[in-house]
Amino acid sequence: MTEGMVAKGLQDVVVDDTWICKIIGDVGKLYYYGYSIHDLAEKCSYEEVVFLLLKGKLPNKTELEQVTGDLKQARGLPKEVTDVIRGAPKGSIPMDVLRTAASALALTDAKPNDDSPEGRYRKAIRMVALFPEIVAADYRLRRGEQPVAANPKLNHAANFLYLLHGKEPGADAARTMDVALVLHAEHDFNASTFTARVIAATMSDMYSAITGAVGALKGPLHGGANEGVIKTLLEIGEPAKIKPWLTEKFKEKNFRLMGFGHRVYKTLDPRAIVLKKYSKKTGEERGTTKWYEMSNEIEGMMKGREKPLYPNVDFYSASTYFMMGLPPEIYTPIFAVARVVGWCAHVIEQQTHNRLIRPAAEYHGEIDKPFVEIGAR
Ligand code: SDX
Repeated sequence: MTEGMVAKGLQDVVVDDTWICKIIGDVGKLYYYGYSIHDLAEKCSYEEVVFLLLKGKLPNKTELEQVTGDLKQARGLPKEVTDVIRGAPKGSIPMDVLRTAASALALTDAKPNDDSPEGRYRKAIRMVALFPEIVAADYRLRRGEQPVAANPKLNHAANFLYLLHGKEPGADAARTMDVALVLHAEHDFNASTFTARVIAATMSDMYSAITGAVGALKGPLHGGANEGVIKTLLEIGEPAKIKPWLTEKFKEKNFRLMGFGHRVYKTLDPRAIVLKKYSKKTGEERGTTKWYEMSNEIEGMMKGREKPLYPNVDFYSASTYFMMGLPPEIYTPIFAVARVVGWCAHVIEQQTHNRLIRPAAEYHGEIDKPFVEIGAR
């Protein structure tokens, strides 16, 4: 077999069954356990989606109270983990701090390897509850501020903003964050989720799987793209510079415009449709729609190309977060704060129907070469 005859990047390879999520890429549809992402984004809180992804059904009122209570109960970062964050060298990348702190969570769990259904649910809830605290503690410490304790009055999204800023967010900001968390919560066998499933398939523990997933999400071809999007917008700077900037960049071999293109969607990512609305709305609330308008113009230009490119989830989240006053380095950690529940759901699904994931590769080297002793090489 010659090079190129393999399923490079596992494109279109169906590697397992799943009941969690369905993407129909040709028409831009996305479902969590059968529910359209549009309904979930408009009508659900992140807590409801946490229950949906971990239990496979939407919660009734009692169940919602239960999961909300479980999440609140699990709040409170262990001192050992805060110390890990404090100990990170100045200038560390926030996703590296999150990855390290996620790993440290295992050391502060009395039963990290409890793989009973209750144990898996408890660990998932614990990580969902503590990821915002890790991200916010790191955010504050690098600004010379002390981490603040969670606010028991606030839901998950509002509390996350409270942890970041040390004050209660307005209703609009809290709702925007809630919607962003719902939209980013799950996306079938994307690179970070697949990483988590590969680790889970060895019957390693959930913390190891999630730590690996954070590492995969960090890359600019995956979750790291949202930071790239805002850097692109800031570099372009002005609407008048969009066209010349793009024309120049597209002359570069292998140039990738951040926030565009997708392995599965061949049209607009449905999450981008929702986030576009929030980018505009947040811009209007903050008195400047410049970044939204520039994004909209870039979208139009990319769609109009001979080979059209469409925005993915990372494109309009960037201008939305920027308008919320959040700095670029925290955008990928926000993605992780949302996605951790999807990862946990997949770890549970993988281990419930497990088989070791171990693909094959096409070897192109020689074999049976005569061994040369070290002195003769
Ligand atoms: C996420 O998988 C998921 O579900 C991920 C995600 C999730 O929720 O988990 O949706 C989140 O990771 C979104 C994607 C974020 N990444 C980016 O925005 C980075 C920029 N985008 C790309 O590099 C790219 O589109 C990928 C990585 C997202 C997808 O890569 P593929 O499927 O391997 O596609 P490719 O790189 O092989 O590109 C195919 C063609 C090429 O052109 P041709 O060689 O065929 O002529 O499309 C072009 C590419 O040049 N192309 C782009 C482009 N994306 C695709 N050209 C310029 N800029 C781009 N962004």
